[in-house]
Amino acid sequence: MLQAETLRPMNPTEHKIFLKILQAIVGTNNVLTEGDLSAWELDWRKREQGKALAVVRPGSTEEVAAVVRACAAAQISLVPQGGNTGMVVGSTPDASGRQVVLSLSRVNRIRQMDAANLTVTVEAGCVLQALQEACEAAGFLYPLSMASEGSCTVGGNLGTNAGGTQVVRYGNTRELCLGLEVVTAQGEIWNGLSGLRKDNTGYDLRHLFIGSEGTLGVITAATMKLFPSPKSMMTAYASLPSLDAAVDLLGLAHRHLSSGLTGFEVMGEFALSLVRKHFPQQHVPFSGKDPFCVVLELSDHDSEAHARTLLESLLEDALQDGCVLDAVVAENISQARALWHIRESIPLAQAQEGLNIKHDISIAVSRIPDFVRETDAAIQAAFPGARMVNYGHLGDGNLHYNVQAPEGADAEAFLRDQEKPMNALVYAQVDAYSGSISAEHGIGSLKREKLAEHKSPVAISLMRSIKQALDPDNRMNPNRVLKI
Ligand code: FAD
Ligand code: MLT
Ligand code: ZN
Repeated sequence: MLQAETLRPMNPTEHKIFLKILQAIVGTNNVLTEGDLSAWELDWRKREQGKALAVVRPGSTEEVAAVVRACAAAQISLVPQGGNTGMVVGSTPDASGRQVVLSLSRVNRIRQMDAANLTVTVEAGCVLQALQEACEAAGFLYPLSMASEGSCTVGGNLGTNAGGTQVVRYGNTRELCLGLEVVTAQGEIWNGLSGLRKDNTGYDLRHLFIGSEGTLGVITAATMKLFPSPKSMMTAYASLPSLDAAVDLLGLAHRHLSSGLTGFEVMGEFALSLVRKHFPQQHVPFSGKDPFCVVLELSDHDSEAHARTLLESLLEDALQDGCVLDAVVAENISQARALWHIRESIPLAQAQEGLNIKHDISIAVSRIPDFVRETDAAIQAAFPGARMVNYGHLGDGNLHYNVQAPEGADAEAFLRDQEKPMNALVYAQVDAYSGSISAEHGIGSLKREKLAEHKSPVAISLMRSIKQALDPDNRMNPNRVLKI
């Protein structure tokens, strides 16, 4: 049995003393208790507003460990936080006012790049884009990439086992990680930053912490894989008659491009219409003409001419085959960025359209068209007018099968009344197709109840045992992932 966190009320004197202890560890300026703390207390999707006892910003692994020990001594729980861009309400405090937000933003150095070992050791609070840029300047590719890269952090990527737009070639964050440094729930420091590609010495602890969403310990640094920068990257944007055609195009792309295929994203017409509506300055090719579009990326280690020949031959076959109706190939980097920007703007356009229901699902690629046909029809029958914002990482079998309230409806009321039955319908379909209810965003608080319903009791029981063993007092991000 997991024990509920002990919410021992602090009297004003104890409260003052506790804050003084935190200040002594991290400095007065790095213990925030007053003013507008919404950057730390409100989640990115504006689904829940929490209230922190304090936002604490340590500057080193040792300071993180000292803060964790101070919280343990005072029976205070902790919410590790990176860029607070998570999608499932996992990085913000609850409303009790008794949780400390442990922001890793100051633990952000790149410690070492090992060119021969093709690794980089980096601290958890380093912003993803800063890491990408430093690696690029050194002639390497750090392939993790997503629209939140300007603010999400390496620690948050590991905490959620984030995916993004390059998974089809490089895997998700777990596959990029060779070692971790972690502060345990007891405030000890585990240094597992080996950078070894082979190490079969018992249980591989790093995999426990990756994807554990801050519920088992605080990741303070990681050793991540690097890749040689490709000689050329080419981006194409194609319009398609159906989702079946997108799956056919993906098969063709695998055959033509092999491991050169580094991105394959699908976008439904309604999702694209939201980009046109909220970001009218963007040029969206083939506007509104066809039901789906795809952004496809090829990375080539030979030459630009070689890459272009490969991509053009793929598109010629696809046009002949009928799975592509029209296509453009970016002529230069700025055109490529503009095409990617369309895809990356969808979550922001969706947020501007109003509160929405997200389903971050994965299903075997071959079964996705049937799933969408059936589920679209069932949703329209049960929730007439619901608007499907369907897009995502088709190359990984991962759809963001999201729902916006019917045109003109009150989005807040729609979520209040329809989110539960909508989720029940979609997730029953996901089960019927042997899929997953969270492909890349994690569980947080938003999907905690659903996890228990959709995962096997044996798996849940093993997960509880792990939590109990590593965090017996339930101080690390309590009530996230697992229900008490
Ligand atoms: P936070 O939101 O701060 O935290 C996320 C979780 O990790 C929380 O449970 C937190 O407690 C835990 N955590 C944070 N830091 C640590 C740490 N140091 N140690 C232990 N636990 C920690 N996600 C994808 O997977 N693919 C995408 O393509 C993608 N695109 C996105 C696009 C947009 C516009 C936005 C807003 C989000 C997107 N996301 C995507 C979701 C989000 O950006 C990722 O989950 C990201 O990895 C979170 O990083 P973060 O630093 O913001 O973490
Ligand atoms: C994406 O792929 O754009 C993200 O995972 C964000 C989202 O689902 O909104
Ligand atoms: Zn995604």
